[in-house]
Order: sequence, then structure tokens, then C-alpha cells
Amino acid sequence: MNDTIRMHYERILPFVEEKELKTLHDEALEARKTLLAGNGKGNDFLGWVNLPEDLDQSILDQIKGDVSRLAPKSEVLVVVGIGGSYLGARAVIEALQSEFAMIEGNGMPYVVYAGHTLSEEYYHQLIQLLDKKEYSLVVISKSGTTTEPAIAFRILKAHMEKKYGVEAAKERIVAVTDARRGALHDIAQQEGYSTYVIPDNVGGRFSVLTPVGLFPIAMSGYDINRLLQGAKDMRQICINNDSMEENPALLYAVLRNALYRKGRKVEMLVNFVPNLKYLSEWWKQLYGESEGKEGKGILPHSLSFTTDLHSMGQYVQDGERLMMETVLSVANARNGVDIPSDEKNLDGINYLLGKSLTEINHNAELGTIMAHVEGGVPVLRIEVPQVDEYVLGQLIYFFEFACAVSGYMLGVNPFDQPGVEAYKKNMFRLLGKPGYEK
Ligand code: PA5
Repeated sequence: MNDTIRMHYERILPFVEEKELKTLHDEALEARKTLLAGNGKGNDFLGWVNLPEDLDQSILDQIKGDVSRLAPKSEVLVVVGIGGSYLGARAVIEALQSEFAMIEGNGMPYVVYAGHTLSEEYYHQLIQLLDKKEYSLVVISKSGTTTEPAIAFRILKAHMEKKYGVEAAKERIVAVTDARRGALHDIAQQEGYSTYVIPDNVGGRFSVLTPVGLFPIAMSGYDINRLLQGAKDMRQICINNDSMEENPALLYAVLRNALYRKGRKVEMLVNFVPNLKYLSEWWKQLYGESEGKEGKGILPHSLSFTTDLHSMGQYVQDGERLMMETVLSVANARNGVDIPSDEKNLDGINYLLGKSLTEINHNAELGTIMAHVEGGVPVLRIEVPQVDEYVLGQLIYFFEFACAVSGYMLGVNPFDQPGVEAYKKNMFRLLGKPGYEK
């Protein structure tokens, strides 16, 4: 079985000119050169480029040790973090686990999230759950000062100390933060938590292949070595191949920029398997925060089909022609389910007998793509053989690399996020934080 991702872009070609693709290919090669030479904008944050190769074995050993210490005594793992500090882990975990894992369990801790919301009701509900469950907690913040996870951690640390006692609670808490600075760094030092470092040169949304993502993924029972292997293999492809046919990251960066320059300001990432919903959420952060600045950038949007064909499908087919569509297409399901035969055929679906659900889903996918192209939406199909750790590792690295190249082609710094500060300043002033009174 072919175990790498494949790009199908014939349905984009009617919307762009060949000459333009050639020009953009040259721009993409130039952008990659800048990225690999480390002399472009934001070059202090390029640690992710070599991460799959550079990750120290001692980190993997520490993760293994913490997982074997904590998993047997935890029904639940709480991941406290926001943005890049939780979306990568959630993307991988939710892609791999059963949709019903919370109820049925799989022998490993079930991951729940905190620090990504300020909803009081959410924390009330979480505490009610944690009153009844054995749990451990990982608090993740690169700056160590972000308000949402700081509040969540204060609430949950107090809950844990009450439930288990101060000393036992310390054994159940893991921290992932900066090597030297920040409130979380200081708390972790004082309390003696098992601690992992987020490298200085890796930004939040590019950090899933550091302990930020690796620790929660390993705690859920998934194979982080396979994830890293997928990323490593994709890295070789991304950094070495000049041809768009052989380098999906270059091709993706070229196609989306070609369409953007033709007025396609929105990109919809579409899946036909609901487990990929959080991969889309991770992708939205990656591309939205990296490219949406200086009044520029493609707006990343996501849909889950066929579910959303019955809600947003109408707009995609007939609404304003703002968008391009990128379908993440999964060739094989990991498990089969038969459609039973029924002589009466009152529902009229006997014509489907003998076809697998995956085959039916693929026909829905093809029918949708054809309809959307006819309706004037350019569609790129990214095909993966199945959803597993290796493929997810490939996808993560592919999307990250393409994002950096695409951001440089757009002329922005893909590694900063100055716009995120605006709401914080207002919120701090409204809440009376010292130093923000006026
Ligand atoms: O990509 C980013 O840099 C952001 O989304 C951060 O991950 C997010 O704001 C959380 O920051 P921190 O990890 O410092 O708490």
C-alpha cells in the first residue's frame, strides 16, 4: 500500500493559468531557500524545521517514564493549554481515538481539555467529572503567563490538592513551558513537577512535535515514534524535492497562492470522516495565525461532510464565489461495517448492497467535488491511505512546511502573531490588571 500523501490537483487547473503556476513555483522555491537558509522574517522561530530529526532521545525517555508512572493511576488526563498549546495534541488524539472513547474507554487515560475557555459552566462541569475520576494533569504554556490556562490551572491545582493532598498532587502534575522564564516555569520549579521545555525557537502553533503534543498523545496510548517517523519522512520530501509533482508542500503553497491572487480569499478544509475535525481546527490556527496579518491572508475555514453538505452545502454550491476547497480524503477505513440486506427494501437502499460504507462515502466525496467544481469552486484533493500515527506525522509536517513557504510567498512573517495582543490589552484594562489601568 502506498503510505504517503498524494495530491490531486487536476480540478484546480481550469481556474489558474499554467504560466502563473510556473512563476509561483519559482517564488515557492525562493521562499523555501529563504526558510532553509534561515534568513527570512521570523527566523528566530525555525526550530520546528528540524524537530523530527533533532528531538533528543532523553525527552522521549522522560515521556515514556511519565506515561508508565501516571497512566495506570489516571482515568482522565486534563490538558491545560490554549491555541498552539493544545490544538496539535487534540488533533492527533481525536483523529485516532473512537468517537465514543469517553464512554467506552480504551485502557488509557481519556483526555479532556481546560485553559482554552473562560466559560464558568465548563469548569463547573469539569470539576463535577474530576470529583468522580482519578486524574492527572499537564499544564502547557510557552510564555507561562497566558491568562486562560493560568486561571484553569489555579482552579484545577486547588482541586487536585484537595482531592489527593498537596504532595500527591505534585506527583500528578506535569508542566511544559519555557526553559527559563514565566510564571509557570517558576511554579513548576518550586513545586518540583516533572517538567518539559518548549524550545525558544519553536512557536506555539508549530510545537506539536515537541512535548507540547507528544506527552498528551503518548498518555492517550498512541505511538509517538511512528508520528515522528512520518514527520521525518515528510521532511525529507519537503526540503529536498524541487519539483511540484514530488513535493506536496511546494505544490500546495503554489496552488493556494495562485487562487488567492485570483480573488479566492477563503480556503475550506473539508473532511468526510468526523475524526478529522480537530485536525482542521489545528490547521485553521496554523494558517490563520501565520498568514492573517498586514491586511492580507487566506481565511481558513473548515467543514465536515457529508454532515455539513446539509447545512453549508447550499452556500458552497451557489453562494458567493469566494472560496477554494481542499478535501482531505481518506482512502481506507480501519474497520468495516456491513449494510444488512432487507428483502422489503422499504427504504429503497438495496441498490447499495455489496458496497462498503467507505465506497459509498467515496462516491459522496466524488459527487461533491464534481458538483462544487461545476459550481465554480476549485477543488484540491489531498489523499491519505488511512488515518494512523505515521500519516498524521506526515500531514503535520507537510502543513507546517507549506504554511511557512506560503507565508513567505505572501510577504508576511509567518511566525509572529501581533494581532492576538489586541483583545488581551482591552480585557486586562477592563479587569483592572495592574499596569493596564488606562
Ligand atoms: O501559536 C501561538 O503562538 C499561540 O496560539 C499560543 O500557542 C497560544 O497563545 C498560547 O500561548 P502560551 O503557550 O504562551 O500559553
